[in-house]
Amino acid sequence: MILYRDNEVDIAAEQLAGFFVDWPDPPSPETHLRILEASTFIEIAVDEDLDRVVGFVTAISDGILSAYIPLLEVLPSHQGQGIGSELMSRMLDRLSHLYMIDLLCDPDVQSFYERLGMQKSQGMLIRNYANQAGNP
Ligand SMILES: CC(C)(COP(=O)(O)OP(=O)(O)OC[C@H]1O[C@@H](n2cnc3c(N)ncnc32)[C@H](O)[C@@H]1OP(=O)(O)O)[C@@H](O)C(=O)NCCC(=O)NCCS
Repeated sequence: MILYRDNEVDIAAEQLAGFFVDWPDPPSPETHLRILEASTFIEIAVDEDLDRVVGFVTAISDGILSAYIPLLEVLPSHQGQGIGSELMSRMLDRLSHLYMIDLLCDPDVQSFYERLGMQKSQGMLIRNYANQAGNP
C-alpha cells in the first residue's frame, strides 16, 4: 500500500535509495534527505510494505507570491501507477494560494503536467554540473 505524507514526516536516508536515475553525479541519499528537509514543501509516497520512499516532489516558495517545483521523481519500479500524478496534485493544492507556480521540464513530460492543469511556457536556466551532487 502506498501512503502519502507531507512535511510532517520522519524518514531516514536509507529509505531514499534509488532516486536521481540517469544523473551522472547524483546526490547521495543523505544529501537527498537534506534537500527534503530544506524544501519549503514536500510530498512523499511511501511503499508501506517495502518501508521505502518511492516518490517525492519538492517546492521552494516565498510564501507570498511564488513557488518553484525543482524535483519530482517516482522510482522506475513504481511508475505508471498514478503516484506522480497524486504527488503533483497534492503539491499543487498546497500551492494554490500563490500566484506563480513554475517548473522546468523536458518536452516529453509536458503532457503529464498539462493533465494536471499546467500550461507550457519558456524558461532560462544555468546548470553547474560540478555541483550536481549537491553542496556539502
Ligand atoms: C514523470 C513521472 C514523475 C511520472 O510519474 P508516474 O507515477 O509514472 O506518473 P503517473 O502514473 O501518475 O502517470 C500519469 C500519466 O502520465 C503519463 N506519463 C508518465 N510519465 C510520463 C512522461 N515522462 N512523459 C509523458 N507522459 C508521462 C503516464 O503514461 C500516465 O498516463 P496514463 O494515465 O494514460 O497511463 C515519472 O515518470 C518519473 O519519475 N520520471 C523520471 C523523472 C522525471 O522525469 N521527473 C520529472 C522532472 S520535470
